[in-house]
Amino acid sequence: MTPRVMIAFASLALFVTAAPAPGQAHRWTIGMSQCNLGEPWRVQMNADIKKAAERHPEISVTYKDAQNDNLRQAAHLEEFVRAGVKLIIISPKEAAPLTRPVADAYSKGIPVIVLDRKVLGDKYTCFIGADNRKIGKAAGRWIAKLLGGKGNVVELKGLMTSIPGQDRNSGFREGIKGTQIDVVFEADMKWLEPNARKEMESALARFPSIDLVYGHNDPAAHGAYLAAKAAGRTGAMAFVGIDGLPQEGQMYVKQGILSACFEYPTGGREAIEAALSILNGKTVPREITLPSRVYTRENIDKGGEWLPE
Ligand code: FRU
Repeated sequence: MTPRVMIAFASLALFVTAAPAPGQAHRWTIGMSQCNLGEPWRVQMNADIKKAAERHPEISVTYKDAQNDNLRQAAHLEEFVRAGVKLIIISPKEAAPLTRPVADAYSKGIPVIVLDRKVLGDKYTCFIGADNRKIGKAAGRWIAKLLGGKGNVVELKGLMTSIPGQDRNSGFREGIKGTQIDVVFEADMKWLEPNARKEMESALARFPSIDLVYGHNDPAAHGAYLAAKAAGRTGAMAFVGIDGLPQEGQMYVKQGILSACFEYPTGGREAIEAALSILNGKTVPREITLPSRVYTRENIDKGGEWLPE
């Protein structure tokens, strides 16, 4: 290789790896551990992170998908630690099994941002997510109003070993307290539409009168709708979900499939903002609570209505 060719190669290599903007000495690698990418909401979370991160050449994000497996997600955290990432963002599958792996990374001095689903204890830097109890309670109140305070409801619950599932359940029960709403059937659909559809088939077979289905996410409400449609019973039934993605829940509301859906923001942008603050040596709040809104047929064209603080 002639010296000129060597210089050309060297400058090409420089060009390929030199990402920091002029004047920026750092390039921080962030490890993002996603519990699964099988649902549109999680694909959106990664897209939100990517979009926010792209505006900051001083960071790069490495993504891992645990494919709904706690052990795999724990292994991903260890891999991030070994690789020397400067910060970890994790959206964990289940609270208990991921608590220790998060604490281990944190105790090695790596800042950890927990996103959307909580872990137990306090061995992490910051939690970011909407208030699922509040959303569940607002859903309960909204449903009680829609049904005039009485009726038979099916509750299709998210994974009950994850905190959003627990909070969307307890919040909802609080919201319907004092009404004559009867939860005639409840099942854990583990956040998955095919499970929700199957559970709803059982509910339809057992209960001739169902007024409304409360799904802990929009895929659940949609799965229930499909089951009811196949049984020719959508006419007498309303469906309410949570997530409110434009291409999912909001679209179902516009199509008249859902009566309402409650927004559950992904927090992707906020996670990158917090990560940058932490990497730049600033302190961030221990808990960042994101706002949520409700989309209904009446307000969807106006961008929904924010839940009160
Ligand atoms: C996606 C999802 C969302 C839900 C969130 C709760 O995996 O099930 O639909 O809002 O997780 O953590």
